[in-house]
Amino acid sequence: MKTRITELFGIEHPIIQGGMHHVGLAELASAVSNAGALGIITGLTQPTPEALAKEIARCREMTDKPFGVNLTFLPSFKMPPYPEYIDAIIQGGVRIVETAGRNPEAHVKQMKAAGIKIIHKCTSVRHALKAQSIGCDAVSVDGFECGGHPGEDDIPNMILLPRAAEELSVPFVASGGMADARSLVAALALGADGMNMGTRFIATKEAPVHQNVKQALVDADELQTRLIMRPLRNTERVMRNAAVDKVLAIEAEKGAGTTIDDVRAYVVGTQNQKVLKEGDLDAGAWSCGMVAGLIHDIPSCGELVSRIMGEAEALIRQRLEGMLRG
Ligand SMILES: Cc1cc2nc3c(=O)[nH]c(=O)nc-3n(C[C@H](O)[C@H](O)[C@H](O)COP(=O)(O)O)c2cc1C
Repeated sequence: MKTRITELFGIEHPIIQGGMHHVGLAELASAVSNAGALGIITGLTQPTPEALAKEIARCREMTDKPFGVNLTFLPSFKMPPYPEYIDAIIQGGVRIVETAGRNPEAHVKQMKAAGIKIIHKCTSVRHALKAQSIGCDAVSVDGFECGGHPGEDDIPNMILLPRAAEELSVPFVASGGMADARSLVAALALGADGMNMGTRFIATKEAPVHQNVKQALVDADELQTRLIMRPLRNTERVMRNAAVDKVLAIEAEKGAGTTIDDVRAYVVGTQNQKVLKEGDLDAGAWSCGMVAGLIHDIPSCGELVSRIMGEAEALIRQRLEGMLRG
């Protein structure tokens, strides 16, 4: 399948693995890239630019295919040294960056001067247009269904994607709720040039997370996610568990007056790590999309991507074309 996204990034299939904190390590990114899709290392999971340089080198040892690095600009207590992280990306020979969170404008010049292609992930048409206007090469449009931070507008992809198609001239991929061939074909029909998956790639053999987490995704249905930190305007879609129930109880009690200090114990990185690394599923909040309801197995990335592409072709050639003939 050839789309503006496969052409832009020099990849075989129009599928991207979105940056995921503590999940997007070299093992996953290289496996996705080896499958012919675009794997992405999560930059800020590495504690320093030097550590990111090593992770990039490690990924390069595992794949000779293109891969990218995610740089997330979110409110944080201590601002990461972004220019140094970008230097590590450039020196490591990576030429694709997925930016996300706040407006990446301050860093676009540095990346473009090195020939980096930027795909900015955002949750609204206005932010997508802004990304296009500051020189981003592509956009990842993240609908309300998505795992992680869906923003505050709550527009699902059935509306957001065709709206993005109406307004954007740069290529874009559909993100949020994407799991299989049906997602890909639907995304293409709605105007996207490919799809970005987060949660689905966690339930793969190569994802560097505890088996309990992968099994939790297989066991969950589409009703199991919750939105937390809404009163802080830092909404996150997470898998429901004991820690999340606690956060929701605190938010219900304190309402608009909720502060980060009220919920910190349940959303802090160390608790998230206990879930992802140690498999202690109730230890803290962890990002997860509604798409968990569509995850029924734990294939390798290669099996997942080739299944999606094979079934997408059958969907288009048989089901859709068959309806026209009928
Ligand atoms: C566990 C997890 C961690 C994530 N961490 C990040 C992150 O650090 N930066 C980022 O830009 N997006 C992050 N995301 C969002 C994903 O890149 C992607 O946009 C999202 O998962 C798409 O929705 P889906 O889960 O329905 O596929 C994360 C998602 C998950 C599930």
